Amino acid sequence: MGFLNDIEPLKQTALTELNAAADLAALEQTKGAWIGPNGKFTALMKQLGTLSREEKPAAGKLINAAKVELEAALVARRETLEMKAALPKEPTDFTLPGRRRALGKLHPLTQVTDDIVRAFRKIGFAVADGPEIEDEYHCFDALNTPADHPARDSQDTFYLNTTDKRLLRTHTSSVQIRVMEKQAPPVRIIVPGRVYRRDNADATHNPTFHQIEGLYVDKNVTVGDLKGTVEFVFKELMGSDVKIRFRPHYFSYTEPSYEIDFTNALVKKMGKDWLEIAGCGMVHPQVFETVGYDPEVWTGWAFGFGIERIAMLRYGINDIRLFYENDVRFLKQF
Ligand code: DAH
Repeated sequence: MGFLNDIEPLKQTALTELNAAADLAALEQTKGAWIGPNGKFTALMKQLGTLSREEKPAAGKLINAAKVELEAALVARRETLEMKAALPKEPTDFTLPGRRRALGKLHPLTQVTDDIVRAFRKIGFAVADGPEIEDEYHCFDALNTPADHPARDSQDTFYLNTTDKRLLRTHTSSVQIRVMEKQAPPVRIIVPGRVYRRDNADATHNPTFHQIEGLYVDKNVTVGDLKGTVEFVFKELMGSDVKIRFRPHYFSYTEPSYEIDFTNALVKKMGKDWLEIAGCGMVHPQVFETVGYDPEVWTGWAFGFGIERIAMLRYGINDIRLFYENDVRFLKQF
């Protein structure tokens, strides 16, 4: 019987077309073409009335089942296409950082470190890194520090319980050596990092704190470059009213050596004229010899300063221990 035989192939074609609809508009068109008022499937259903009494029940059952199937296919395809339309046109890179932190804030020491790094990056310095567990060679010997220097004393330095006398670095200056061992001059690096000393904790001391080391090696480098660089960075960090002063000092790895004093409105507010903030100097020729740089060709300067000190000044904090207690009431303020 022609009518009954038409149902199945017609349904199959309709299903294929519904599932092939490329977007929602195409799907609506396909729907109209098949099960809309003037659709091909609707036309078939209208023929139902022309059938005989005997034929009607079986044909009606068959055609209704087919219609239910087509409608289900339409709903499913619509859902798929709606989901597709909601997706972004460009593929999403889920590795990109978020625009806003979902939770929490950066620690004030991290914020200050980031600001210092940003200032140095502006003038071409790259960030270098080195191990916190060091050997005596990189922490002391290569920096020209005599064997009997008090800094090497176990009262000042944490030694690890190893046969090779490894220690926790007392300053980031060890990374100067590690970088120069690996890299030919010129060098322009800064090294933010954690250091360790056997200090008892009080308001201004803690057994671990953070430094930023700087090293600049090139031809014809001068103290003037050093002073200009330090001044630039501190002005970026603390404002344009900053003044810098160099005082003669001694470090075994620089000659001449200086301590850097710093002042601005904040320092005055603390009732002080100057605040000691860093050590620095021209890299000692012996240090260049040790790492295999020719001291007749290369000149350079280095500095190291404490990050906590700068953060305390910037935020008016008078107890260094607050940085490490992780008290949310403290951290929330930055
Ligand atoms: N390492 C010194 C300290 O921890 C700071 C320092 C002084 C670093 C002079 C230097 C430098 O690079 O040239 O106190």
